[in-house]
Amino acid sequence: MKSLFPNRFGIHFRVLSVAVLLISATTFTMGYLGVTIINQFVTHRFNQRIDFMAQYLALNSELGILIGEKNLLRGLADSMLKEDDIAGVDIMDHMGRILVQVSRDHRGPFASVEKKVYLSETEESAAWISRLAGTREADLIGRVTVTYSVRGIKDLAGRMTARFVYIALALTGLACLIFYVMSRSLVSPLVSLADTARKVSSGNRTIRAATGNTPEINRLADAFNDMLDSLAAGRRTLKQAYEKMARQETLAEVGKFSLMIAHEVKNPLGIIKSSLEMLKSDMKIPEDNMLMNYAEEEIVRLNTLIESFLMFSRPAKPRFETIDLNQMLEQIIMGFEIQHSTDGLQFQCKIPDTPFEAKVDFDLLSRGIGNIIKNACEANNKKGTVHIEVKIDRNKWQVFVTDQGKGIKEKDRQKIFEPFFTTKATGTGLGLAFADQVIKAHGGRIRVENSETGGCRFCITLFSGIHDKLIEALQENGTDSGS
Ligand SMILES: Nc1ncnc2c1ncn2[C@@H]1O[C@H](COP(=O)(O)OP(=O)(O)O)[C@@H](O)[C@H]1O
Ligand SMILES: [Mg+2]
Repeated sequence: MKSLFPNRFGIHFRVLSVAVLLISATTFTMGYLGVTIINQFVTHRFNQRIDFMAQYLALNSELGILIGEKNLLRGLADSMLKEDDIAGVDIMDHMGRILVQVSRDHRGPFASVEKKVYLSETEESAAWISRLAGTREADLIGRVTVTYSVRGIKDLAGRMTARFVYIALALTGLACLIFYVMSRSLVSPLVSLADTARKVSSGNRTIRAATGNTPEINRLADAFNDMLDSLAAGRRTLKQAYEKMARQETLAEVGKFSLMIAHEVKNPLGIIKSSLEMLKSDMKIPEDNMLMNYAEEEIVRLNTLIESFLMFSRPAKPRFETIDLNQMLEQIIMGFEIQHSTDGLQFQCKIPDTPFEAKVDFDLLSRGIGNIIKNACEANNKKGTVHIEVKIDRNKWQVFVTDQGKGIKEKDRQKIFEPFFTTKATGTGLGLAFADQVIKAHGGRIRVENSETGGCRFCITLFSGIHDKLIEALQENGTDSGS
């Protein structure tokens, strides 16, 4: 439907102009009708009054006309002239001769009324009937004419009309004011909503629409804010996805690079190590030579680092065999106990005596679980206790490793399984990535939570039996062992 208004006119203007039109039309129509009716009524009553006075004069003039007493008639005419609006009185005999004529100054316009004077013997009803019969003229003895000014009644009508116009104007003004305030209060939330939308589109993403003063506007503002919230959430997700993608790309590049470095460094490192040993025996350098030991330790450290790079970048194809997981775990822990026998770190283990057999790659899984325990030991910083507990539920084997360290910050929790993420000065950031890779290759799960006692609690879940098929599939798709 085509709009009444051009598009550039806002709701506020439209509502207001329609309201002004309707109010003015109603007020003026009603007022015009009212004034017309009242004017007609007042004019009618005015004419009735003059008519009555002329009739009264005609009745009283009968005797004066009959006996030709002009003084009597003049007295009557004068007393008549004292009445408001009366400008002149003429009394004539039946021949039309003027017996009395009085007048006074009055402002026009004028009108006049004439009354006939009859002999009063005739009863009024008889006179009326005979008048109808056309015989009444025989009783006619004279006439009176009363001239009167209609100025007064016209002035009164004018004053009433003017008063109506003022009142109508005042009412229209008041109604417009009320409508102005109302439509403003309705429209201003919409305007502020539009402003908010403009600010959002120009980059202010934190701003939200204010609620209005009507339920409809509130619903609109709520819907608008919900839309902004979901947009913000979408933007966050997109940003995270981009970040993840960028990180993965970087990781892939770093991975390739480290693999190359590892290969390039591994062989020279082997040569350095054997050369050192030869040097030691040729030069008869004692076993406790501090510099020599230092060099050897660093070579071992570098080698471990390269090994873990290689391990992670090109993992060996798993060789699954049926193994008792509880026994495997005890072996791993024993290694750590020996390693930490000289410092204050304790291990508290709850491992069932009954075997739990599953098809796993002993080497890979021991290294994977070992990485988790190693992290727990590092978190404990050579003191306190690392708790290791195994829970078995039918074919499900779960090991919980709980330390007494500082726990993992919320912001890091998502990243700890990513390769090369580390918060340690000498860390490689490959321990958890490798563990995750291995556990997944065994059809298992790994998760982490902060324990109630502070520190971290890692949980590794593995299955026996039903995952055989999955493991076989994994085995078929697994990567070949590299160098
Ligand atoms: N038990 C733990 N307590 C606190 N933080 C841990 C724990 N285990 C892992 N992390 C965090 O996860 C990161 C990655 O661990 P990891 O992959 O083993 O690499 P690295 O040990 O070389 O740093 C660590 O740097 C550390 O911030
Ligand atoms: Mg580690």
